[in-house]
Amino acid sequence: MNAFKHIFAMTMAIAISCGSTVQAQAKNNHNMNPVIVYFTHSGNTELAAKQLAEITGAKMIRLLPEQPYSADDVDWTNRQSRCTQEHLDQSLRPAIKPIDIDFAKVDTLFVGFPIWWHEEPAVIRTFLDKYGEQLKDKIIFPFCTSYESPMSEADAALKKGYPALKIRKGLRLPAESEEIKKWIKQ
Ligand SMILES: Cc1cc2nc3c(=O)[nH]c(=O)nc-3n(C[C@H](O)[C@H](O)[C@H](O)COP(=O)(O)O)c2cc1C
Repeated sequence: MNAFKHIFAMTMAIAISCGSTVQAQAKNNHNMNPVIVYFTHSGNTELAAKQLAEITGAKMIRLLPEQPYSADDVDWTNRQSRCTQEHLDQSLRPAIKPIDIDFAKVDTLFVGFPIWWHEEPAVIRTFLDKYGEQLKDKIIFPFCTSYESPMSEADAALKKGYPALKIRKGLRLPAESEEIKKWIKQ
């Protein structure tokens, strides 16, 4: 686990240092007013959000559950744990703290999260439900971090759960800057 985190942080550091060199160019190429909204439990998705912020110039906004997740809460080996229960009962929506976004000034949202149980955590569904009306005219780019799961199941779950939103194909980070720039152009 520690080795995984070390490798993840090293990969992110390299990706971010490459990303900063193309930041100005990316801003010119992508005529957007983006924000990055993300949930992180152990920090990987925050590093990924920083890589995206370097490339896009977007402001980062962290989603915080009203009740933080404890170590016991994220024990996926325990059927009774909070994360397992939120996975098994897809109607659960853990409350989140209010966020400071002026939606009128934003046209693009990057929505980041760790993969939990092959898809987006319930906190992300809370965000999309709560702000769904304001999100209808925005372009949404989901991104994730994970041990190994690809983005595809989260992509499918988000499309199915939020058909009224303009959700683009997601991307698993870290990724090369060129791949991120290509993704944003879709
Ligand atoms: C409850 C829980 C479920 C997880 N499920 C998966 C999974 O299905 N596939 C996977 O590759 N990683 C899974 N992971 C690992 C996380 O996706 C990975 O460590 C991620 O980078 C953590 O991001 P964070 O540091 O921003 O919280 C899971 C982690 C937790 C805590």
